[in-house]
Amino acid sequence: MTTKSRLRDYLAKHTGDWLSGEYLSEEMNVSRAAIWKHIRTLRDEGFVIESVTNKGYRLVQIANALDQDQVTSGLTTRLIGRKDVVILKQTESTNLYAKLLASQGAPDGTIVIADRQTMGKGRLGRVWCSPPHGGIYLSMILRPGISPDKAPRITLMTAVSLAESLLALAPIPLRIKWPNDIMVKDRKLAGILTEIAFEMDRIEYVIVGVGINVNSAKEDFDEDSRGIATSVVMETGHHLDRNRLVSAFLNQFEKDYLLFCKEEFAPILGRWKQLANVIGKKITVDALGTIREGHVVDIDNNGILILKDAQGTLHSLFSGDVIKIHEK
Ligand code: BTN
Repeated sequence: MTTKSRLRDYLAKHTGDWLSGEYLSEEMNVSRAAIWKHIRTLRDEGFVIESVTNKGYRLVQIANALDQDQVTSGLTTRLIGRKDVVILKQTESTNLYAKLLASQGAPDGTIVIADRQTMGKGRLGRVWCSPPHGGIYLSMILRPGISPDKAPRITLMTAVSLAESLLALAPIPLRIKWPNDIMVKDRKLAGILTEIAFEMDRIEYVIVGVGINVNSAKEDFDEDSRGIATSVVMETGHHLDRNRLVSAFLNQFEKDYLLFCKEEFAPILGRWKQLANVIGKKITVDALGTIREGHVVDIDNNGILILKDAQGTLHSLFSGDVIKIHEK
C-alpha cells in the first residue's frame, strides 16, 4: 500500500479527530513534508481535510462518500430502493446483511450498500476483495412471484442492467463474460452473486449482490486480486460519483425487473448476447472442474451455455469459468 493510501485510511478511521503533522509523520514513517504533499493530493481527489496551526489535520468528509440522500434523490423508481436504502460503513457481506433483513420480512426492493466488506463473497465460494472508499458493494432484496426455474434469468438481467448503466456514465470497453462477470479485456470490473431462499417449492426471496470496482486504485486491492481486477478509474483515469452510479444502476435495474416480472425476457436476453459477444466463438471453459473446449452455439433462455465440441457433441453448461476466448 502506498503512503497516500495508508494516510487516507488512517484519516478515515479517525474522521473528525485532530491529528498533528508530527504524529502522522511518525505513524506513517515519512517526513512532515511528505504528509503535507499527500494531504494536498487527497484534497485534490475530493477529501475535505481541515488544517489548523497547533492542531494538525482533521478529515471532515471522505471523497464521494456513499450517501443515502444522494442515492435516493437520483432514483426514478417506484419499487427498487423506495422503501429502504441501508448504507453501512462496513459489514461482513452485504448479501449476508440483506439475507438477515429479508428473513425478518424486509420488503421487495430493499437495498443494502456498504463502503467496505470484511468478508465479501464471490461466486463459487471465492472472496470478493472489497477495499473501502472506492467500490460499490450492493445487495437487493427481491420477492418476485416467479417459478424457481426462472430464477437464473435474474442474474443475466442484472449483468445487462449493470453493463448498460456503467456504459451510460463512463466510456469503458466492457463486455459481459458468461455467466455474469463484467470484464475489460481479461480484468474484472464487476461481479454478481445471486442467492435464493426457497420455501417449499416457491421462492421466498432472492438476494442479488453486485460488486463494482469504481474508484479503487491498483494498490487498494489485495495481492490476489491486483492482477485480475480493474476499476472505472483505472480504465478511464477519471473518478466516477458512486452515488450517481448506484442510482443509475437501480433505475435501469427496475426497468428490466418490471419487464422480467411480466415475462418479457427475450429483449433482455438479446441485449445480453450483444454485450457478451461470445456466440460463435471458440472458448475454453472450466465447467465446475471439467475443462471443455468448443464453439458457443447459443445461450438459452435460462442462461445455459450450449457448447459444441470438436466432435460435434453439444454440452449444456449451467455454470463455470470461461478461461479463454480463442481469437480464431
Ligand atoms: C463474483 O464472484 O463475480 C461475484 C461477486 C459479487 C460481489 C458482491 S459485493 C456485494 C455482494 N455482497 C457479497 O458478499 N458479494 C456480493
